[in-house]
Amino acid sequence: MAVKSILDHIGLLWTMADEAEGNSASARQGREAMREVGAIENAAIAIDDEGRILAAGPRKQVVEMADEQTKWIDAEGGFACPGFVDPHTHLVYGGSREHELPMRLAGASYLDILQAGGGILRTVKDTREASFDELFQHAKASLARMLACGVTTVEAKSGYGLELATEKKQIEVASALSQAQPIDLVLTALPAHAFPKEEGITRDDYVNSCIEWLPVLKEAGAGFADVFVEKGVFTIEEGRRILTAAKALGYGLKLHADEMESLGGAELAAELGAVSADHLLAASDEGLLQMASRGVVAVCLPATSFYLQKPAARARFMIDEANLAVAIASDYNPGSAPSENFALTMSLALLTLKMSPEEVFMAATRNSANAVSRGDLAGVIAKGRPADLVWFHAPNPAYVLTRFGVSHVAGVMKAGVPVYRA
Ligand code: NIG
Ligand code: FE
Repeated sequence: MAVKSILDHIGLLWTMADEAEGNSASARQGREAMREVGAIENAAIAIDDEGRILAAGPRKQVVEMADEQTKWIDAEGGFACPGFVDPHTHLVYGGSREHELPMRLAGASYLDILQAGGGILRTVKDTREASFDELFQHAKASLARMLACGVTTVEAKSGYGLELATEKKQIEVASALSQAQPIDLVLTALPAHAFPKEEGITRDDYVNSCIEWLPVLKEAGAGFADVFVEKGVFTIEEGRRILTAAKALGYGLKLHADEMESLGGAELAAELGAVSADHLLAASDEGLLQMASRGVVAVCLPATSFYLQKPAARARFMIDEANLAVAIASDYNPGSAPSENFALTMSLALLTLKMSPEEVFMAATRNSANAVSRGDLAGVIAKGRPADLVWFHAPNPAYVLTRFGVSHVAGVMKAGVPVYRA
């Protein structure tokens, strides 16, 4: 197979795999495994005509594979790793909610604002009113910001329609975007994000509607279903009904679980065999242990706890005591995490979740790929996989994380194609 290009002069490469594993890259659970980053110094990566990795290893061995046609890309001695996977975003929405921050700083809580018809319900109004093209252009600009942080796969949820037409519009916008820019999108149906304000709709009516819409949203491209299980939003029992129906339709399951109150969302995720449970600020020890034993990925959202000014999730307990596979995500959305900056999310994982640099990168690559069931395609650099790569103007990963708040990305490659240069 011809060598189409070589990313050369990588000072330090973290592959997130070891060679013996071949292509099976399941999530890594617990402290020891989450720190096994597959480090190679003075490395290079050869990419074939189909955009797949032919070889990743010590540069002396890799550069020998070149022929006259090979294109060279110079990483200038910087650090490189797999393209990042952001496994929890609310990418597609209308309007913006900057007016809520002064309310929160004056003492109103996130849930107070939602109860009063603001918050998610405000964005629902704006998203219903927005045209397909407005939503598309707005989200496309967000994806460009994510790409500049090295993100090559993004999960995107519906949840700002709370009626079929708009939920479907959100999924269709995200689906169209996956054809229109280089980042891969994974789509999630979240009609159970809040209760709509319309007169005369009972809770039961709305839960039944969510279940009725699931086949349509699946047809539109959603592969995951999610529910915001929270005090004052959806109960455990309502979450169980919707997610059980989703599972029967072949959806992968996700949950917004135990963000503000310990309701048993983590336990529900374990019971249903969810792919991930996300937020988890208030999750019980028992719930976290059950998740680990069922192989549910714990997705921590450190930008959200930061922006809501809450104590971060207990990532140290999750990793050290519960032996969980922890992933991180931006939770990009207009209310609780209005930032596409995945570099900041990663630094906040270091600073507020108290994860080591190895754990942060594992949580942003291999484990986050598994949080969207893409462990076979993304998050790891190994022979035969799509060449989703990011390299930095930085000598090492600790530098990337500690020089916080900005992206240090020098270049990004998606499926073997250079798609971004700083
Ligand atoms: O993950 N917690 C619920 N949903 C989002 C916030 C959505 C919004 O505020 O618009 C979250 O934080
Ligand atoms: Fe969310």
